[in-house]
Amino acid sequence: MGAISDFSYISKVLLEKIEDILSYDLLGDSDRALCDVLLLLQEEGALTEEVVPLVANLLSLPENSVWQSIASSPLLSLETHTVQICDGSLCALMAPCALISAAKHFVQQNDLSISVKKTMCLGECEYAPVVKGLKQTYGNVNAKSLCDLLQKEDKDAKE
Ligand code: FES
Repeated sequence: MGAISDFSYISKVLLEKIEDILSYDLLGDSDRALCDVLLLLQEEGALTEEVVPLVANLLSLPENSVWQSIASSPLLSLETHTVQICDGSLCALMAPCALISAAKHFVQQNDLSISVKKTMCLGECEYAPVVKGLKQTYGNVNAKSLCDLLQKEDKDAKE
């Protein structure tokens, strides 16, 4: 089994959920574990190209098996580059209530190639409000820094 700390692209809370799945699924059914982990990642908007090697490592499977599972399941599809805005209780308390809609508006107005979605607590509450990009997590986000980080994420998505 791979090290769970290799999952730098996804939140601590999501990692805990994955650990829960692995604790019962790895008792004998790696196909079910893979399916459950992929479904969870999709549910949380975190099923991206970048997590495929990490999932393969965690389940000690070849990457091809993970790709095949995604391709063969009508329930699964990879996310586009998604910026996740934490909607956990502390972030919701600290953030201007319009942060998520402002981000969506900014993406639309500037024709950015990323999508924005709210997510559960990212496990970085001390930095609230928190936004998670593909390679980086941003803390203490305000309206100005939100626009800057969205432009940076869009640039990263196009590289
Ligand atoms: S509530 Fe946002 S990181 Fe925890």
